[in-house]
Amino acid sequence: TAAAKKLLIKHVTIIGGGLMGAGIAQVAAASGHTVVLVDQSDEILKKSTKGIEESLKRVTKKKFADKPEAGAEFIKKTLKNLTTSTDAASVVHSTDLVIEAIVENLDVKNELFKTLDKFAPEHTIFASNTSSLQITKMANATTRQDRFGGLHFFNPVPMMKLVEVIKTPMTSQKTFESLVDFSKAVGKSPVSCKDTPGFIVNRLLVPYMMEAVRLFERGDASKEDIDVAMKLGAGYPMGPFELLDYVGLDTSKYIIDGWHSLEPNNPLFAPSPLLNKLVEEKKLGKKTGEGFYKYK
Ligand code: NAI
Repeated sequence: TAAAKKLLIKHVTIIGGGLMGAGIAQVAAASGHTVVLVDQSDEILKKSTKGIEESLKRVTKKKFADKPEAGAEFIKKTLKNLTTSTDAASVVHSTDLVIEAIVENLDVKNELFKTLDKFAPEHTIFASNTSSLQITKMANATTRQDRFGGLHFFNPVPMMKLVEVIKTPMTSQKTFESLVDFSKAVGKSPVSCKDTPGFIVNRLLVPYMMEAVRLFERGDASKEDIDVAMKLGAGYPMGPFELLDYVGLDTSKYIIDGWHSLEPNNPLFAPSPLLNKLVEEKKLGKKTGEGFYKYK
């Protein structure tokens, strides 16, 4: 039946023009979608657009190495697909998909979805890019639980090929398949997962990084040796301490604390005194110049 047909997503609204939202806007615009990127101020949006332009130049240099004219054309076409706005409610009236990539705070996300639910057309699918919050809780802030799912991209979005497509118990098959198709259309490889803490990648990666910290805290091995071991022995591109510094120790602490409160008896989710101490000292990783390592 027509109703069971998948939704072909052409117009996308992305809320949050930070690290992730700007990257998602870039790949969606580059693959021919009409994209509106929303954030709180024109100043932030100017910065997002500038970042997208710079990233596009880098991508194009590689992709069109011996065809600079085709490269320039590609950038022009991509930027033509992209507009910005500071008023989400006024731009969602004809959108097929809303992807939320704002601050990792459930109350703020719920408030946004509740508002947009009133302004977006009935067919519009809502998706969150959250790393650690429950998609089901956000879906329940709206009246479109069947048209709600997770689309979890990875940083840096233009480089990382994976998207985790998250299905809650209420997500319809049509919505799920539309999100899978959209992920492919933006050039990514989708995998699917139920709405469980950390989905696939972070559910495995975060406890692994925490185990590395615990190994170091017990004095069993140095952080340098643990990093070398995982790079040379397991073939990982970064060691766990390098990865923690890259992700941000505050972000990692936030995720583990959230999961610990959900499952206090799960030893994999136990907080680490060392990680907590570094965050307290504002040693948050690469972004502050120091985390487990110094970057100055
Ligand atoms: P960010 O801090 O770089 O960007 C968030 C942006 O959202 C900011 O520009 C902020 O001004 C804007 N914003 C906040 N509240 C808003 C509102 N009510 N309306 C419109 N804009 C609003 O954060 P980032 O790293 O891009 O993360 C965004 C989301 O993506 C979070 O849910 C995070 O968990 C998730 N995520 C982050 C990854 C990462 O490696 N940083 C990886 C995958 C997912």
